[in-house]
Amino acid sequence: MKKIKIHNKTFEVSITDSEISEIVDTIANNINAKKIKAPLFIAVMNGAFLFAADIMRKITIPNAEISFIKLSSYSGTKTTGKVNELIGIGQNIKGRNVIILEDIIDTGITLEKIMSLLAKEEVADVKVATLLFKPKAYTKDIDIDFIGKSIANDFVIGYGLDYDEIGRNLPHIYKLKN
Ligand code: IMP
Ligand code: MG
Repeated sequence: MKKIKIHNKTFEVSITDSEISEIVDTIANNINAKKIKAPLFIAVMNGAFLFAADIMRKITIPNAEISFIKLSSYSGTKTTGKVNELIGIGQNIKGRNVIILEDIIDTGITLEKIMSLLAKEEVADVKVATLLFKPKAYTKDIDIDFIGKSIANDFVIGYGLDYDEIGRNLPHIYKLKN
């Protein structure tokens, strides 16, 4: 199925499931190559749930752990410009080597919020891995260590990403048709 309709909008396939799986493999290999000691992956819910699950199965570093935070900034197809913290870190992560797992980095306000939350926790190191990145929308200068694929300023759904909560279960990534 090439095109789908969600709510009132039409989307077309942009990144197929097989391309996604190649991108995920590359990110996992790059993370594994860094041999980070006892990494604590922190996945940003809800969008990163499939990406985090697929990445974790490819991680071969000993004593890798995963935890979750839940943040929200989007309404419909646009950022609200504000980040709500729905579920926080909730555990002692002092001294840990953290790797953030994000579905997509757009303006960077979510990433900035995560960095400010981690700054209070006295972690040893923070690295950032994102499946997708919109370089033309990015307004921050926080380094992103692992980028799966840079895309245009399109609104995308599927593989965890949603349009008002719908579309997360789609195996391919679709972009809004205009
Ligand atoms: P940022 O804070 O503007 O960088 O946006 C990051 C968050 O907004 C992501 O974790 C997503 O949850 C959401 N988001 C950004 N772009 C898109 C998109 O194209 N489709 C769906 N969600 C998006
Ligand atoms: Mg998200």
